[in-house]
Formats: sequence, structure tokens, C-alpha cells
Amino acid sequence: MASHALPPPTVRRKTVGLLTALAVGVLGAVAAPVAPPTAHAAESRAEIAAESTLGAAAAQSGRYFGTAIASGRLNDSAYTTIANREFNSVTAENEMKIDATEPQRGQFNFTAGDRVYNWAVQNGKQVRGHTLAWHSQQPGWMQSLSGSNLRQAMIDHIKGVMAHYKGKIVQWDVVNEAFADGSSGARRDSNLQRTGNDWIEVAFRTARAADPAAKLCYNDYNVENWTWAKTQAMYAMVKDFKQRGVPIDCVGFQSHFNSGSPYDSNFRTTLQNFAALGVDVAITELDIQGAPATTYANVTKDCLAVPRCLGITVWGVRDTDSWRPEHSPLLFNGDGSKKPAYTAVLNALNGGSTTPPADSGPIKGVGSGRCLDVPGAGTTDGTQLQLWDCNNRTNQQWTHTAAGELRVYGNKCLDAAGTGNGAKVQIYGCWGGDNQKWRLTSDGSIVGVQSGLCLDAAASGTANGTLIQLYSCSNGSNQRWTRT
Ligand code: XIL
Repeated sequence: MASHALPPPTVRRKTVGLLTALAVGVLGAVAAPVAPPTAHAAESRAEIAAESTLGAAAAQSGRYFGTAIASGRLNDSAYTTIANREFNSVTAENEMKIDATEPQRGQFNFTAGDRVYNWAVQNGKQVRGHTLAWHSQQPGWMQSLSGSNLRQAMIDHIKGVMAHYKGKIVQWDVVNEAFADGSSGARRDSNLQRTGNDWIEVAFRTARAADPAAKLCYNDYNVENWTWAKTQAMYAMVKDFKQRGVPIDCVGFQSHFNSGSPYDSNFRTTLQNFAALGVDVAITELDIQGAPATTYANVTKDCLAVPRCLGITVWGVRDTDSWRPEHSPLLFNGDGSKKPAYTAVLNALNGGSTTPPADSGPIKGVGSGRCLDVPGAGTTDGTQLQLWDCNNRTNQQWTHTAAGELRVYGNKCLDAAGTGNGAKVQIYGCWGGDNQKWRLTSDGSIVGVQSGLCLDAAASGTANGTLIQLYSCSNGSNQRWTRT
């Protein structure tokens, strides 16, 4: 999780730099000085991301991006190629459930669970455990139990499975789907519920003792919309557990969104409110009917906006792997190609936290009193900067990094599209080039390291919409800037 700083993307950025240099050289021999913008335009069409896989992009903010893995598909190389490339966390889709791990009472079987676990760990991924106590996918022997006999069987099951995976599982879904759908806010009727209302806390206390290293999660669906009774009931339970010291560390939001249970933008409020109770939150089984790109991006941004959101897991790799293939709800087509939703999620992850870093702030023009602004809060590479009324929004929040970049949105850099007077100054994905490095001088100038020219409000303009360019340093008021 921690080592996201260097590997493949760095190589890629260097390659981009080299290509840019080559393009400058070739074009420079033919026609004069327009080469850098041309090279940038080519890069821009390629939509270069700061990180090129979901897992690496999520790791930039310390999060993971996972998938459900089905052991039966691990010999499909098209499947494992995508799964291994894109994801850094794995949940066994069925293999660690009660029927799989304890098919006969007291006889545990970890063959399929271990197949998924070993594949994950051998490929450098962390593992979420799913799930220890649930009304569904119980083996036949458990379905027919009741009362104290069932209660004891639940306890023995938790102990048996958690002992096998002790110290190896980052998060365990201890209890799954214990609340009823609809407006009642009641517990779901089940054989486990009928053993007594305290079955959930008993499960959590048993789990803590069995593997103190694992984060213990309660996991459910139809609990993403803050206004729903089921959400409120789960909230009341977690609040009560925290108050009474019942060991719970996290809440999993399955996030199976569809026409009957659509995504609502108040999901972020839900995540924030649970986090405020002192638990981590995670999106554990994400799939969205029809896979609309915007909704996928919004869910991703919701997690990024909440510091205690640990990561996102999608419930399968390709649409054809989904438990609901008729919904085509995932990020990859059956042929392995990336869907628009994939790109939307990757871009959102590369946009980083939507809360600007603490050391960021506006850059204000001395002559205009207006701020350095990305028009329309755009994120497209090549968007030229302008002056606009200072408004403290994210498209005016700049961080001067140790490398000398001026970053906005976490991953876009103030970028000179040339080296001559009048060269456009734009945003562009940060890649380490000298055209993205700036010296802030004591006289208030911002000097491009590559060009030696100054950040300049064109034609000494002061109005909203005045474009920003490079120009020979004059120390005029259209070239002096203050940072607050
Ligand atoms: C589903 C699996 O994807 C299917 O293969 C299986 O037949 C049924 O279970 N909520 C959960 C998951 O917590 O375990 C479920 O997984 C989907 C709904």
C-alpha cells in the first residue's frame, strides 16, 4: 500500500518527456517554434493519467481499489490478467462464506478460500474477508439449527475461520445483511436473529478475540441513501456499539446500485456520518446497473472525500463475471476492454482528494486583484489559465511542491505550452518537466524554469477572463502575484 511513489507510471512519464523532446527536435528542424504545444496536443489526445491502473491510482491517497475474485475463474488468463493489473485488493466472491468453509459442522474446508487468498497474496494484493455470520449461503446443517445450538455454531464458525486466516485478513465482514429492507428499520428475520438480538455483538466480540489484527466490519446493502430507514437503523446500531465498547472498526457499504436502489448524492453524507462515529467506511461490492460513467465517478469521489473511506471494491471484473450480468454493471466489457466507467473512475482517482491539501491557496494578481483560475473548473489538459474573481474554489487552490511545480486538483500542473513570449500557460497532467517548474521570486514574479519568462496576465488585462501567458519579465503589476 505504501510504495506507490515510483514504479510503472514514472517510467511512463519519462517516456513522455523523451517523446516531447524528440518531437521538439524533429519539428524544430522543419518549422519554427510551435513544437511544444504540438507535442502537448498529442499527449492530450492520449489522455495521460497520473497513474494508469485503478489500484495504483487509489494508492496515491492511501486507498485500495479491489475486486471480487471467483476461484473458478482463476484459470482464465484473460480474467487474471485484468484482475492482476488493475486491482490491489481482493474479496473472495463466495469462497470464504459459511457454506464453503464449514460444509459439515466442525469440518472446515479452506481449499477454495485459500486458492483465492494465495492468488491475491502471491500477486501483492491485500484481502478482505467475506463473510462470517449471514442468513444466506448457510450450509444445510446450519439452516436447520436454532436457539443456543445455532448461537454456539455461529461462535464456533467465526473462531474456526478466523483462526485459519489469523493475521492475514485486513478487514473481515463479520456480520452481513442483518437489517430488513423497507421502511421498518427492523432487523431482518432470520434464524440468527431469532437466537436473540445480541447475536451481532456476540459475533463481533468473538471475532475480536479470534484475530485482534483484523478490522471488523458490519456490511450491508440499501444503506447508502442517508434518508432510508435501513441506513438509520444501521447507524443507530453502530452508534450504540461504539458507546458500549462493542468492538467494531468499519462499516461496509455494498453499493449494488440499480433502478430499485439508485445512487443518491447523499451517499457522501452517509459515509461522513458513519465516519464521524469513529469507524472506517468502505465501499465493498460496487456495481451499478448500466455502469453510467458519471455515477461511477461520483461514487469514487464520495470515497475520496471522506478521509476514513479505506477503499472501493467492485463486485467482479468483467460484465460477464458479474452476479448480475444482465445489468452490465462493471468496469470491463466481456471482451476485457475498458468501459467509459473505467476511465471515469481512473480519472476520479487520479484527481485525488477533492479537499485541497492544507498548504494550498490562491495566487492573486497584484494589478488585477483577481486570482489564477482554471476556467469552468475544467480538468482537461491544455485548458489555458485565466484571471477570475477570487472565490476559494478548488480550481483556484495551488500548491507549490518541493519539485517546484504549482499543482491544482492534486495532479494537474501549471504548464507552459512553449518557451517564447505569448506562450500559453495551461493545466496539464504533472510529469516532471521543466516547463512545469516555477520559481517564486521575492519581488512577486513567478518565473518559468524552462523559459526564464514570467507568468503574465496578457496585455496587462485585469478583467475576468484575461488569459495567462509567458512573457519577458518586466516586474509590471500584471506579472506580480501574491500567495496567501
Ligand atoms: C453473491 C455472489 O456474487 C454470487 O456468486 C452468489 O451466488 C450469491 O452471492 N451481497 C453479498 C455478496 O454480500 O456475498 C453477494 O454475492 C451479493 C450480495
